[in-house]
Amino acid sequence: MRVLDRIGQKLLFSFDPETAHGMSIAALRCGLPVGAGAPRDPRLTISRCGLDFPNPLGMAAGYDKNAEVPDALLGLGFGFAEVGTITPLPQPGNPKPRIFRLTADEAVINRLGFNNQGHAAAEKRLAARKGRPGIVGVNIGANKDSADRIADYERGVARFAPYAGYLTVNISSPNTPGLRNMQAREQLGELLSRVMAARAAAPAQPPIFLKIAPDLVEAELEDIAAEIAEKKIDGVIVSNTTLARTGLRSSGSVNETGGLSGKPLFERSTAVLARMRKLLGPKIAIIGVGGVDSTETALEKIRAGADLVQLYTGMIYAGPALPGRIVAGMARIVEKERVGSIRDLRDSACERWAAKPIS
Ligand SMILES: Cc1cc2nc3c(=O)[nH]c(=O)nc-3n(C[C@H](O)[C@H](O)[C@H](O)COP(=O)(O)O)c2cc1C
Repeated sequence: MRVLDRIGQKLLFSFDPETAHGMSIAALRCGLPVGAGAPRDPRLTISRCGLDFPNPLGMAAGYDKNAEVPDALLGLGFGFAEVGTITPLPQPGNPKPRIFRLTADEAVINRLGFNNQGHAAAEKRLAARKGRPGIVGVNIGANKDSADRIADYERGVARFAPYAGYLTVNISSPNTPGLRNMQAREQLGELLSRVMAARAAAPAQPPIFLKIAPDLVEAELEDIAAEIAEKKIDGVIVSNTTLARTGLRSSGSVNETGGLSGKPLFERSTAVLARMRKLLGPKIAIIGVGGVDSTETALEKIRAGADLVQLYTGMIYAGPALPGRIVAGMARIVEKERVGSIRDLRDSACERWAAKPIS
């Protein structure tokens, strides 16, 4: 870690996690010179779903919930940035404290509960950046008190289709009661039909990704894969945070309610990702997320079956230079292994990962 970044990290860790998060957003908004960007290497480019990604590493949803700093994130070296989750109406989320660092595990537990400023505020910012280069995905959700949650997703599609590089239908946050039930086959079928109809009626038709939980059993994964294929969804993001608490070293905060992210999520989310690749076949796009904190972990997601990779918690622990470092490392690996394109590495460890237990 560079000296400046190390000082910045130390300073941020002296504040509670949510204050530190707000400070890092403010730093990016002001254009503070953090991070170092990433090399451009044609061997790292990925073309999927009609989009040309300059490299396969993206910022995961939840960091920039209100679309305040997508361009600054792209400037850190990410090949794409996902904003959100955004719900139709602003909502405060759960009472604080609601983010907990598990430092010994390089992990975080959060129970934010979709705190965000709502569609209108995010739309204004995304409209202001329309036409700028860079792929910005928009992650949409449902308000906690909504009488018709599927309608909230339809509204998200209609509202953000003109501005989104892609849209993510997030039904896998553990922090909105009942939301994950939408992953069950019948509800999922209705949700995806209505979402696809909303996209067909929208002024633009960006690709649609479904973001799933890592806490699913084989039969549930089979149902989800079948619905994705039947409804012709463009891709899947594997995965959101986990409710599991296995193998943690930390003593404090491990029993806090919420979703666990970071290093301890890597194995489980990668095993689920490989199973999804096997169930979906080679054509449907997969974004692998969960515990990526190095070039090696990012490449392992690709070897397990991911086309693209995202991270969040890794950057909390390693600082804003992490994306640039990971992408530079990818460029070194394609050089060393003499592969023409990073996508040639995809699936090479899919069988091994798919054979690992997931419960
Ligand atoms: C503080 C925090 C807030 C998050 N908020 C969202 C969110 O609003 N929507 C979403 O789809 N995922 C959200 N996530 C999940 C991440 O996008 C990602 O799926 C998960 O953290 C696993 O990746 P990681 O181990 O690299 O953090 C959040 C994660 C964290 C740590």
